[in-house]
Amino acid sequence: MGVLIRVAKPDDIEPLIETLGSAHHVFFRSRFPLQIVGLGQILMAFRDERPVGAVFISWDLADEPEIREHLAEVPMVFHLHVAVEHRHQGIGRGLLRRAEELLRERGHDRVLLGVDKSNEMARAFYLWLGYTQPAEPELSDLGATAEPGELAHSVGETYDILVADLRRVPPRWE
Ligand SMILES: CC(C)(COP(=O)(O)OP(=O)(O)OC[C@H]1O[C@@H](n2cnc3c(N)ncnc32)[C@H](O)[C@@H]1OP(=O)(O)O)[C@@H](O)C(=O)NCCC(=O)NCCS
Repeated sequence: MGVLIRVAKPDDIEPLIETLGSAHHVFFRSRFPLQIVGLGQILMAFRDERPVGAVFISWDLADEPEIREHLAEVPMVFHLHVAVEHRHQGIGRGLLRRAEELLRERGHDRVLLGVDKSNEMARAFYLWLGYTQPAEPELSDLGATAEPGELAHSVGETYDILVADLRRVPPRWE
């Protein structure tokens, strides 16, 4: 598919504004300092040297007390996003696959993410790739807080936590 996926470098962040738009650019720019201090990593997908997608992985302490209680030390995937005109070509899957590889290399055996109640497409995508909803009711219907560039978790929307075993065999990564 001619797509390169790698960890973001400082000069990669500004071009995100052209392909993903300003809100997503703000999100990833605000996470870059966390990468510098070693609390997470931004992974980016490039086609013809232009960024076409990105995701942030974090092994920092979760903001949500519910996650700290039930899924302590499980790393998190945030803001998986592919530019509209590059979707349905395996780039989202490629970013998630690389994110999971990096987390396995760091010694983790599970990963979690939040998906908005209304985002049926993303939920179906994650369930298809083997993510499941944990049994604890506290991990469903979490209230969103406003964050820089955090469009998906708009205030008023609620989200559910999904978890995956990093040693599972997903249905079709390629
Ligand atoms: C979710 C998102 C990242 C997926 O990116 P993508 O590059 O289009 O994803 P891929 O091409 O790797 O995978 C999509 C494919 O997965 C497969 N797939 C997804 N759900 C499936 C299901 N339930 N059953 C079978 N196949 C499924 C299909 O082959 C699908 O291809 P299709 O859309 O052509 O049918 C992208 O749609 C996006 O950026 N959405 C907006 C942001 C967002 O909602 N992010 C999630 C935040 S939680």
